[in-house]
Amino acid sequence: MRCDVWWARPAAASPRLLALLDEAERERYGNYRREVDKLRFLTGRTLIRAVAAQWLGTAPEEVALDASCYDCGRPHGKPRVVAQGAPQVSISHSGQWVALAVVAEVPVGVDVEEIRAAEVADLARISFSTAERTAFARLTEPEQRAAFFTYWARKEAVVKATGRGMSVAMSKFTLTAHDQPPAVLASETPEVDPARVRMADLAPGEGYRASVAVFADEPPEVVERQADDLIGSLG
Ligand SMILES: CC(C)(COP(=O)(O)OP(=O)(O)OC[C@H]1O[C@@H](n2cnc3c(N)ncnc32)[C@H](O)[C@@H]1OP(=O)(O)O)[C@@H](O)C(=O)NCCC(=O)NCCS
Repeated sequence: MRCDVWWARPAAASPRLLALLDEAERERYGNYRREVDKLRFLTGRTLIRAVAAQWLGTAPEEVALDASCYDCGRPHGKPRVVAQGAPQVSISHSGQWVALAVVAEVPVGVDVEEIRAAEVADLARISFSTAERTAFARLTEPEQRAAFFTYWARKEAVVKATGRGMSVAMSKFTLTAHDQPPAVLASETPEVDPARVRMADLAPGEGYRASVAVFADEPPEVVERQADDLIGSLG
């Protein structure tokens, strides 16, 4: 099994890209106040269409997405490509990166995090499991700063693969230490089965952490790809 992770910079809002959005997406695009949020959203949704169009052998404008929230039905949930044989996808954006993970059939989640000033000890207290908090507490403060975003990107990739996002309590499952290969060691939540979570760290470059998780019996081959040309080809 192969899992492609496409990396794009937020693209300029050309009429051609904007025309690819459906009505609900146009409304969400219009509701973002900050330009960077608009462009990251636009880039993610047009990138899904470009990649899914290649996968399905169709045109980007023919690719329909359904992002109904599992909870309230509003169109702010995990996007799904609506077509027979469509790939599973997951989007994340942070800073100057948009990431799209694409895999056949199995649930997938991706997360990219720009390393930023944050109260990492407080965040770890509420989002890490007891075992993770114990391991984290042994680190020095500079080590905690470096380790926190590794844990966070890994944990968020897992909850995004469930399709429920942070409604799945991040503190209910335990990951390997930040300096070990990523895996789920234990889980107290039915959405996360340690035996089926396969994870990989990604390489977005300095100042960022990123991970991808799939729920599968076999580890996928993860291939990272640059998407700027693909977005550029959309016009
Ligand atoms: C999904 C979630 C983890 C996003 O985290 P974030 O760090 O702000 O943002 P990221 O850039 O990493 O991810 C955002 C993307 O996740 C995807 N997403 C949205 N809901 C998702 C979900 N439930 N599961 C997985 N992915 C989801 C979307 O593609 C979204 O980007 P887009 O709307 O531009 O396409 C967080 O918003 C969340 O947990 N939402 C669901 C929980 C919730 O509030 N439920 C009740 C709502 S009524």
